[in-house]
Amino acid sequence: MEVVIRPDADAAVALTVQLIATRLRAKPDLVLGLATGRTMEPVYDSLSSLGLDFSRCRTFNLDEYVGIPPDDPQSYRHFMNERLFDRINIKRDHTHVPDGMAADLGAEVRHYERRIKHAGGIDLQLLGIGEDGHIGFNEPLSALMSRTREKALTPKTRRQNAGMFGGDAERVPKRALTMGVGTILDAHEIVLLAIGAEKAPILAQAVEGPITAMISASALQLHPRCKVVLDTAAASSLSQTEYYEWIFANEPEWSAFR
Ligand code: F6R
Repeated sequence: MEVVIRPDADAAVALTVQLIATRLRAKPDLVLGLATGRTMEPVYDSLSSLGLDFSRCRTFNLDEYVGIPPDDPQSYRHFMNERLFDRINIKRDHTHVPDGMAADLGAEVRHYERRIKHAGGIDLQLLGIGEDGHIGFNEPLSALMSRTREKALTPKTRRQNAGMFGGDAERVPKRALTMGVGTILDAHEIVLLAIGAEKAPILAQAVEGPITAMISASALQLHPRCKVVLDTAAASSLSQTEYYEWIFANEPEWSAFR
């Protein structure tokens, strides 16, 4: 795992976008794993403004609420269409979001896994982190080898996501479909972006604490090509910032990003 700390949110977003753009230019048929949420809004704003060619790119989103139709503004499919897919030249049938309205959710999640495999696996997976340490909707005690499945959301996550539901956590669905921790770890490369002081305590546990199913993001320590991009506020509870800053300033692989 490599930790990159940028001076502010704009710089952390810019580095994340630069990383995605670099990978897409190098491999125009990139298979991109995508996340939703507030952290991703500026990422998609910036990514869609670069005039990149997404015509051969395929995408797989991490998750979707159960019981929210794709055209509902509260669905993650709607978020992705509005924030990214409608603004770039991606083919709509190259974009995948789990179908939370499927009559058979078990069949849907198995099909989702098959589609990822059929695409050749995910080249680059973009992640945010929940305040309970989730990646995707892998809530505490998600098996570290879990695959795409239906998952109950914690009250904390439902409160965290209430913004899209008029501020009322009770209106946030209780269940979601999500890639598993194991599905995420299968990606060839991972970049997790976290912004803001409210993410600092869980981020420090995930990055510098023990690997535990209580904090799904801690499983990223097992991944050989995982980058964690932070602003100084999100990094404020880390203990080894001097080392992370030295790596970013000196290691050749970061030279194009400095
Ligand atoms: C969303 C997702 C979640 C979010 C996380 C952070 O598709 O997978 O894990 O990345 O809840 O959300 P924000 O960015 O809103 O703080």
